[in-house]
Amino acid sequence: MATVRFLLDGETIALDDPDPTGTVLDLLRYRLRRTGTKEGCAEGDCGACTVLVGALDGDRVAWRAVNACILFLPMLHGKALMTVESLGGTHAVQRELVARHGSQCGFCTPGFVMSLYGRSIGACGTRGLALADVLSGNLCRCTGYGPILDAGAAVPPEVPDDGALAAHLKALATLSVERGRDTPLDCARDTGEPLDCARDMEETRDLAPDAGGRTFHIPATADELAALLLAFPDARIVAGATDVGLWVTKQHRILDRTIFIADIADLGRVAESADGVRIGATVRYAEASAPLARLHPDLGELVRRIAGTQVRNAGTIGGNIANGSPIGDMPPALIALGATLTLRHGDARRTMPLEDYFIGYGVQDRRPGEFVESVFVPRPAAATRIAVTKLSKRFDSDISAVCGAFAVSIEGGVVTAARIAFGGMAGTPARAPRCEAALVDQPWSEATIDAAAAALALDYAPLTDVRGSSGYRLAAAANLLRRLWLADADEPLSVLSPELIDG
Ligand code: FAD
Ligand code: FES
Ligand code: FES
Repeated sequence: MATVRFLLDGETIALDDPDPTGTVLDLLRYRLRRTGTKEGCAEGDCGACTVLVGALDGDRVAWRAVNACILFLPMLHGKALMTVESLGGTHAVQRELVARHGSQCGFCTPGFVMSLYGRSIGACGTRGLALADVLSGNLCRCTGYGPILDAGAAVPPEVPDDGALAAHLKALATLSVERGRDTPLDCARDTGEPLDCARDMEETRDLAPDAGGRTFHIPATADELAALLLAFPDARIVAGATDVGLWVTKQHRILDRTIFIADIADLGRVAESADGVRIGATVRYAEASAPLARLHPDLGELVRRIAGTQVRNAGTIGGNIANGSPIGDMPPALIALGATLTLRHGDARRTMPLEDYFIGYGVQDRRPGEFVESVFVPRPAAATRIAVTKLSKRFDSDISAVCGAFAVSIEGGVVTAARIAFGGMAGTPARAPRCEAALVDQPWSEATIDAAAAALALDYAPLTDVRGSSGYRLAAAANLLRRLWLADADEPLSVLSPELIDG
């Protein structure tokens, strides 16, 4: 039997043989009857289902706001969960929202409450961000955002007293994780420490959703993951589930065997050095943002414009790459900077230029049983001009129509090297070889830029779809290159303002 255990307001919830792709939202609403958490879109867009998930971090609990609608049940294992009911109805966030008329129909309100509460306790992905950025993953159709922002600004910061909860989580971690049926590995995290949560376990509520005969695994280390994938090369890896979640909630896909990797600590590290930044496969946007911004400010801006806080708190850079979407935002930027990807199969590793990973639409250079281990992004030379620009219809929480990334080296007024990559222009994130060739060894001049911009039409034959026509995409890509030329060399180029996008 596989049992997923987590804490909900101090109570241990045990799910025996849970549906591996059952959502936390459904568990809350239909089994636990915590109906404060709402379903708006079921695809991570609206934030009505926002909950806080806490993970042990030393002697503290690190909280993060996530979307319950695309959070699978095994992803709660060993964690603490807070829903809007946990706040009791009279918390400062709730009082301020009422006092400032920040709620009308109320459907979005629990999600805002949880996001604002997360901000008040300094939850992951909120520190250093403007309030509007923290709320970029919460949509309201009624009030307008003014009263909600006013309410959020009025909420004082607080430090939650998480000591007892941390001890409880530590004890929970000593309990056997579970064995995925047919699993060759004993994944139990038996640390040998005495259990001190016996009292709470007596109060455990056992729930047994229908597993439907499907299997899941939660390896604790990269080695365990490697061994599991050798045994089950067709298993579906799930990291943050911000792509996979939608396959289930929107496409109703059945995933027979899943491997949940989000909590593998040795894949979750960021290593910064003089040479660059190595980002482990399970590093989430929220944690990658600052190190990437230290490489170049445009990378930080790019992450700020990926989805909203809840998705950035769950989604990983590794997942964005592995997913292979032609409109994934990270690959063009990382390709332009010369990133390399390391894949692991058993104990064997291979490293390739990131652009080589994307073979064709929906096809990547990943063999059965192989997984993305890390991506390395070299530190750009000081003289290299970098610009990354995402064009989307909406500034916040929207998918790119075009994402362009440029790394151009100029010495003595001549272009010595150019790496240019785009998303949204082809079936994969792809470099622009003819455009690059039109730049290299040429004077850094308007005539060169015109020639290189024209060459983009030879590099790409973009599609027309709801996000933009083929003509728009080609014109926009050429204009991004011209913008690089026009920009003041001393100022980093940041993303376009909404006014420019609208214009
Ligand atoms: P998952 O969903 O867990 O997995 C995605 C794919 O990668 C699966 O095929 C999985 O098997 C595979 N995979 C994951 N990790 C590995 C690994 N280590 N090795 C091999 N395979 C692996 N994306 C953008 O680029 N820009 C956006 O603005 C954006 N906005 C979004 C907004 C919303 C509301 C949502 C729901 C998604 C958005 N996305 C966006 C897409 C998504 O958030 C990203 O692609 C994210 O980085 C995926 O990471 P994940 O950890 O959630 O991957
Ligand atoms: Fe909309 Fe979850 S229901 S984000
Ligand atoms: Fe109605 Fe926000 S109050 S959707």
